[in-house]
Amino acid sequence: SDALRIGVAGLGTVGASVVRLLQEHGDQLARKSGRPVRVSAVSARDRGRDRGVDLSSMAWFDDPVAMARSADIDIFVELVGGESGAAEDSVRAALQRGLHVVTANKALLAKHGVDLALLAEQHNACLNYEAAVAGGIPIVKTMRESLSGNAVSRVYGILNGTCNYILTRMEDEGLSFEACLADAQRLGYAEADPTFDIEGFDTAHKLAILTSLAFGTKISSDTIYVEGITSITTADIHAASELGYRIKLLGVAQRTESGIEQRVHPTMVPKSSAIARIDGVLNAVAVDGDFVGEVILVGPGAGGKATASSVVADIADIARGDETPVLGTPAAELDDYVRAGMRKH
Ligand code: NDP
Ligand code: HSE
Repeated sequence: SDALRIGVAGLGTVGASVVRLLQEHGDQLARKSGRPVRVSAVSARDRGRDRGVDLSSMAWFDDPVAMARSADIDIFVELVGGESGAAEDSVRAALQRGLHVVTANKALLAKHGVDLALLAEQHNACLNYEAAVAGGIPIVKTMRESLSGNAVSRVYGILNGTCNYILTRMEDEGLSFEACLADAQRLGYAEADPTFDIEGFDTAHKLAILTSLAFGTKISSDTIYVEGITSITTADIHAASELGYRIKLLGVAQRTESGIEQRVHPTMVPKSSAIARIDGVLNAVAVDGDFVGEVILVGPGAGGKATASSVVADIADIARGDETPVLGTPAAELDDYVRAGMRKH
């Protein structure tokens, strides 16, 4: 059958890895999804930069919005980043044109997710975002599809690779916060502005998406209590360790008597717990469903290759013709929050 034509906007850590994955595993993907997939257009700022991949057969666009509006593509892959600006404008332009969209951009979804889901559903387009929550862990598909028969009471986990990498190395190697953050940036784990990671906002963006998937509520991140890891010292980590605990940055969303509670903060977890053993760039997401019980998924939460794995899974779903609602529930049927972080029963 005809090849599915992909436009990749953003050729940084994730975008370049996606192009590489599609080049290296294109044949396997075509066999598994039933349709060849080809990158036919790309966009970034600096055309002269060597990105370690061969872009010679692809149309080049300096502007992702122009690519979304005019490239000959079937799927627009947004890997530019940012909660607004070029990322938002290009995704809106692509959906309005009826193109399917794949994005890893949790900041964008935390702010405009409901709006974009409505737009996608109005235009019969897919909006897939497996990579936006916990990098390489297939948690969005798990929540949206595999656990859809359950009433969820709680979803929580380690949702930021940069913070977990910093806390692990501070504890295991006695390194400074600053040295660990610099390494996380060098390895491509951190956001362009790492404040989002270390102040907890990136975890809050991901938690907001998980909350919507778990409870069928509109995405809401500005109602989340957020505390990051910038005030955690090596002395705190060692004091916790002597008491039998490790410090982890957790995002937690749970059903309470008065509604859905969402929070992000450093938490002392007993060393004997599963979550305490999640080290380095690994993330973990735990979901409590009434029929299944507790499901915990563990895997790399950041990095180009792991994140590309999730982006390509989203492309394969579109190749297969998957039509699951963007947030698991049709966007027009999502529930409102009644007050900060709370939802009416
Ligand atoms: P990078 O900063 O490495 O790459 C961003 C890319 O976008 C660059 O190629 C850059 O161009 C391009 N770009 C930025 N602004 C513009 C613009 N205005 N017009 C055109 N192109 C632009 O980011 P990442 O690859 O790390 O992240 C991309 C997205 O994936 C973000 O939303 C991030 O949150 C998300 N994500 C990242 C993960 C990770 O581990 N890194 C994991 C999961 C999600 P140029 O190269 O020319 O400067
Ligand atoms: N900066 C993010 C992290 C990337 O460290 O988890 C993955 O979303």
